[in-house]
Amino acid sequence: MTGQKTTKKLRSQEWFDNPDNPGMTALYLERYLNFGLTREELQSGKPLIGIAQTGSDLSPCNRHHIELAKRVRDGIVAAGGVPFEFPCHPIQETGKRPTAALDRNLAYLSLVEVLYGYPLDGVVLTIGCDKTTPALLMAAATVNIPAIALSVGPMLNGWHKGKRTGSGTVVWESRERLSAGEIDYDQFMDIVASSAPSVGYCNTMGTATTMNSLAEALGMQLPGSAAIPAPYRERGQISYDTGRRIVDMVREDLKPSDIMTREAFENAIVVNSAIGGSTNAPIHLNAIARHLGVPLDNDDWQQVGHHVPLLVNLQPAGEYLGEDYHHAGGVPAVVAELMKAGLLPHPDAITANGRTMGENCAATETMDAKVIRPVAEPLKANAGFINLMGNLFDSAIMKTSVISKEFRDRYLSNPADPEAFEGTAKVFDGPEDYHARIDDPAESIDENTVLFMRGAGPVGYPGGAEVVNMQPPAYLIKRGIHSLPCIGDGRQSGTSGSPSILNASPEAAVGGGLALLKSGDRVRIDLRKGTADILVGDDEIARRRAELQADGGYHFPGHQTPWQEIQRGMVDQLAQGMVLKPAVKYQRVAQTKGIPRDN
Ligand code: FES
Ligand code: MG
Repeated sequence: MTGQKTTKKLRSQEWFDNPDNPGMTALYLERYLNFGLTREELQSGKPLIGIAQTGSDLSPCNRHHIELAKRVRDGIVAAGGVPFEFPCHPIQETGKRPTAALDRNLAYLSLVEVLYGYPLDGVVLTIGCDKTTPALLMAAATVNIPAIALSVGPMLNGWHKGKRTGSGTVVWESRERLSAGEIDYDQFMDIVASSAPSVGYCNTMGTATTMNSLAEALGMQLPGSAAIPAPYRERGQISYDTGRRIVDMVREDLKPSDIMTREAFENAIVVNSAIGGSTNAPIHLNAIARHLGVPLDNDDWQQVGHHVPLLVNLQPAGEYLGEDYHHAGGVPAVVAELMKAGLLPHPDAITANGRTMGENCAATETMDAKVIRPVAEPLKANAGFINLMGNLFDSAIMKTSVISKEFRDRYLSNPADPEAFEGTAKVFDGPEDYHARIDDPAESIDENTVLFMRGAGPVGYPGGAEVVNMQPPAYLIKRGIHSLPCIGDGRQSGTSGSPSILNASPEAAVGGGLALLKSGDRVRIDLRKGTADILVGDDEIARRRAELQADGGYHFPGHQTPWQEIQRGMVDQLAQGMVLKPAVKYQRVAQTKGIPRDN
């Protein structure tokens, strides 16, 4: 499959070299000639390579791709291809309201149309900021033309008063200090700004570092590509190498479906545990898998990934940041450590460079064992997710490795039942409701309260908001209680270390059990059994469900844009990858649907 050239006619030739239909061929050709390309370049069978550009002024995390694309182009030309750079729908995690997640499927949808409807033989996916990575990989999965991903790379390490300040993570910490009156508004702003010292994506192990690392673990990037910081010399060099490589991938017809197999997803799940990856990862990987027709669900995340230890010492679970991760060896070093302990399930999975994951990584030495630990000395055991279910929801993800000692002592200290706890529910309908009520003493929130956030899923919010990790009331923080158990049908930022129960599916807005919960209900969570239940009788649940139905179901704010309405009408739940349901049946479109009709 790899290393061998195919004799297949390139799909771009269907546009540019068709003597049976010279009129159309001339029309396709002329506009691409008028910016300096020649007939020789377009008609002689050189692969046409798209560069799916996600960088723009609206997407500062990925903006450096505008520079890197120049090196990608050089690599494409050097290998005998012709580069075609085009813009993707911008997605900025921190800038887009109501949430960047709303736009993941929109960017996906538009890229599918571009990859299929234009004369592209292969594509370089410029990934980085949280949702850009899954959006582009999902589109490459659906169309299934040869594709390779290129990370923009993390920002440099942030520093403030001699301490590393990590993107996002420092916001959560400093917000608590602001609430406790330890710092003022200006000091808060200075600390947070220090955490974003350069171009690049978040330097913590948030969703961006997670998804870029997993794109590499899936085999979709050149080895070592994920962790190189954006401003580094090597970042330009690997951009050039990526441009060169995609041309050969077209010649070898090495497609996303050849690389992103079930085995590759299992490797990625194991790497996700070892890096301490974000709880957003199951949503996005389940989505990519669905677009390829590879079976993958949240049970697989627990089965394949829960027992794997945490090796990477990056914030929020640990101390270090992106530059340290790169210096220690990045993803290849993590994979090598896993391989030494026999924990990488499929070393023979093929990757974008035509070699296997094992061949690429086995010889990589870890350069800093404080940052990437050996399996024998992990930061934490059992770092993967568990998949909870019960009468509150069918599936929700929890990262047990971030449970703090304070939390464990307070909630999981009953010797007879060390992995279970009960509490009294306090229910919030959306983040506005939370902010309005959390500090009100009349709500009588105390250390036995379990905070619930609902109305925050793909339909309710819409898009699924990162609002489930809720800070306790200021009066509890002042008493030294820094976290309460949080459960919800929304998501949590990967930069937050809260041990929340997240991504609950089905969400309240589509009639999930959370819609029936009332403040004051007792709830019981059992981590060993993997259950989460409201402790009220079946009769009472049936009565509440009838009442909810009579009231027209769970209420949430109306649509504000056409896309909000369109997506709400067809989006699946977080546990199922939040994909657009009608899109899933379109698989390997470049092979199954042939070439589009002449225009
Ligand atoms: Fe864009 Fe974190 S906000 S990478
Ligand atoms: Mg986020």
